[in-house]
Amino acid sequence: NATFDQDRSSSHLAKLIILHDYPLHVVQQPAFTAFTESLQPRFRVADVETMEAEVYGVYQKEKNNLMQALNTMPGRISLTIGLWTTSQTLGYVSIAGQFIDTDWKVHRRMLNFMMVSSPHSENALGEAISSSLTDWNMKDKLFTVTLDNDCSSHDIYSANLRDHLSNKNNLMLKGQLFVVRCYANILNAVAHDVIASIHGVIYSIRESIKFIKASSAREQKFAEIALQLEIPSTKTLCLDVTTQWNTTYLMLLAALDYRQAFTTLETCDDNYNESPSGRSPDASHPRL
Ligand SMILES: *[C@@H]1O[C@H](CO)[C@@H](O)[C@H](O)[C@H]1NC(C)=O
Repeated sequence: NATFDQDRSSSHLAKLIILHDYPLHVVQQPAFTAFTESLQPRFRVADVETMEAEVYGVYQKEKNNLMQALNTMPGRISLTIGLWTTSQTLGYVSIAGQFIDTDWKVHRRMLNFMMVSSPHSENALGEAISSSLTDWNMKDKLFTVTLDNDCSSHDIYSANLRDHLSNKNNLMLKGQLFVVRCYANILNAVAHDVIASIHGVIYSIRESIKFIKASSAREQKFAEIALQLEIPSTKTLCLDVTTQWNTTYLMLLAALDYRQAFTTLETCDDNYNESPSGRSPDASHPRL
């Protein structure tokens, strides 16, 4: 029996537009007005300008809440910087902040997303970060800065940034850990190298799993072999998404448990000859 409240509904509409990237003029599209009309004829659909003000109001409110959280956080804040150049060669810098609040909860928030004339110039980045620090009143609370772009530019930025900020900031550990490489990027690079070096094995495992999953008769046969061999695994064979190395890892992890079963299947099914262990030893195709 909720009562209708124009303001509350407008605020929900603003959040809908923000969260799903809807264009502001959605409020004037006939199908949209027909939809709201059918739900609640008393709802006055705003014009684009009013909607824009409403969206901005939500932003201001969130910004104030975040400002409050930053003012009361007991520790420091770590920033993650992203660089982006659009197809029209417009440059943007995004600045996200990570911090721990008084309840030991980790927060990750987007603080700024700003256009810069040339994001790959040395000064642009330092200035963007500096203005963000002023904006959010966190000049004395900076812990580290993580750059998530490629490493070659990284070195230029790190030296430049440290100089730029050390005069104004009370850096921890004399700035030693101030600018760090992105751990996820490094892990990603390592995983790609490893995957490239064992691509032969990964190929046979992927083909093996495809072969087994091609029919339920084969799946059943494989399950029987695993049972006979008393393989204790509870894992299920799964195919990977070749562009996501973490899924390749999960595929290998499951396949590893069943390695004997693949070999046995090869001896009793003439159509199957992709067993990873059955391959001849070969430097470019190391065995698992
Ligand atoms: C793999 O990583 C991607 C990107 O980080 C993530 O979205 C996805 O959920 C992960 N998949 C699995 C199976 O963990």
